[in-house]
Amino acid sequence: RLLIIDFGSQVTQLIARRLRELNVYCEIHPYQKVDAAFIEAMGPKAVILSGGPDSVTREGSPRAPQALFDMGLPILGICYGQQAMMQQLGGRVESGHGTAEFGRAYVTPTQTRLDLLEGWFEADREQVWMSHGDHVSKIAPGFEVFGTSPNAPFAIIADPARHFYAVQFHPEVHHTPNGAKLYENFVRLAGFKGDWTMGAYREEAIARIREQVGDKKVICGLSGGVDSSVTAILLHEAIGDQLTCVFVDHGLLRKNEATEVVAMFRDNYNIQLIHADETELFLGELDGQSDPETKRKIIGKLFIDVFQKHADTIQDAEFLAQGTLYPDVIESVSFSGGPSVTIKSHHNVGGLPEKMGLKLVEPLRELFKDEVRALGRELGLPQSFIGRHPFPGPGLAIRCPGEITREKLDILREADAVYIDQIRKHGLYDEIWQAFVAILPVRTVGVMGDGRTYDFACALRAVTSVDGMTADYYPFTHEFLGETATRIINEVPGINRVTYDITSKPPGTIEWE
Ligand code: XMP
Repeated sequence: RLLIIDFGSQVTQLIARRLRELNVYCEIHPYQKVDAAFIEAMGPKAVILSGGPDSVTREGSPRAPQALFDMGLPILGICYGQQAMMQQLGGRVESGHGTAEFGRAYVTPTQTRLDLLEGWFEADREQVWMSHGDHVSKIAPGFEVFGTSPNAPFAIIADPARHFYAVQFHPEVHHTPNGAKLYENFVRLAGFKGDWTMGAYREEAIARIREQVGDKKVICGLSGGVDSSVTAILLHEAIGDQLTCVFVDHGLLRKNEATEVVAMFRDNYNIQLIHADETELFLGELDGQSDPETKRKIIGKLFIDVFQKHADTIQDAEFLAQGTLYPDVIESVSFSGGPSVTIKSHHNVGGLPEKMGLKLVEPLRELFKDEVRALGRELGLPQSFIGRHPFPGPGLAIRCPGEITREKLDILREADAVYIDQIRKHGLYDEIWQAFVAILPVRTVGVMGDGRTYDFACALRAVTSVDGMTADYYPFTHEFLGETATRIINEVPGINRVTYDITSKPPGTIEWE
């Protein structure tokens, strides 16, 4: 195993991710927790010191345990990790005017070869991503320079005899295109075989859940999305019938969705599942409401009430399981109390554990979306669930601008089913981040056969995105759009006009409300 000492960088988890891609098992531990005894007990084969927001020139700033440098382990320091390493080994770090550097830079090699850089400088320079306020001004005894950039003369330094390596830039980020190579070289020279797998992760995650939960009971909110599905199945493997899932059906789901989710988890996986069909309650409270934020708030509040009502029927539950992913963790850390404005009040069960006096189980906290999908595959979850487009908590309510009526919801479900069928038939589903129909709150005049129609108009939406934060509309061919419009108008009574939404995000948002 490999130990990553975390000095608090926003991208520390990306280091872990690069290592998992190399099939190396690693653990991230905050620097406050790591002392010499901790390292000895863990027995890592190598150590990585992460970046971090502090300045090593500040008194009391984070350090690695000094004893680490006498343990004979290969060490790689990144950014703040490099600077801490230099300071601790007898070099010097400076901050202040002119030492900061953010963004793209190019590193060129020096004459001497270094095992860490094997196969890296294919071209005569490599693009890297810098993000630092301070810089190393004198390197520690035993170290040499192996790569420089115009603003970072000590971009890559090493003491090859001790296998100590340190870089000023971030090899783990996307903008250091060949950064993975450095990690590959580092783990190879540290003696890792690269035989760790998602199967092994599953076993470790199960062991951790068992240790945390013991013989207590766990409640899990199941939406049918990939995150909550994988969470539920993993927990079920770990603790069996100590788990009960609650599926809140607010009557705002897509066609056949409730049946599919219930069949999958109850029948296929034999998971104890409460199907809380609360359609009447939700649609009743939403009746006559047309303001987007009011609709969201009503749904969010009812969702929590309903969840709590059902959870209360489970005796002695002590834990609430959530499919929180790593990007959610980062966002909630970096934005908590920050100045960001609420564009939309996203509905989730935040605050629920405290309210109900439950402890949290979050087995996916260290994973990224694609890793969750890989874990889902490992757990035997069918591709139709794993590759699903995201579906928002408030469901079809936010795809039905203005007042929600049962009639509109029925039309929306049918139109959406035809649209998704078209996308699947043309083999486009996996290229698209999310696709859906929104029903517009206007009726328009049309002519079908020899008669006049006066029906709803709808908008098709399809976007590409990496994380939902920014998005671009999907460039369907006119042929596809024409064929889809014809099918919707022919097959869905109540719609006589189809439009295609070509707004990107920003300035638009993905959903219509
Ligand atoms: P927007 O519309 O804000 O959506 O561009 C970005 C992504 O988030 C989803 N979304 C939600 N997901 N609860 C959720 O769980 C919500 O309240 C919610 N609102 C939007 C949206 O479908 C898209 O994937």
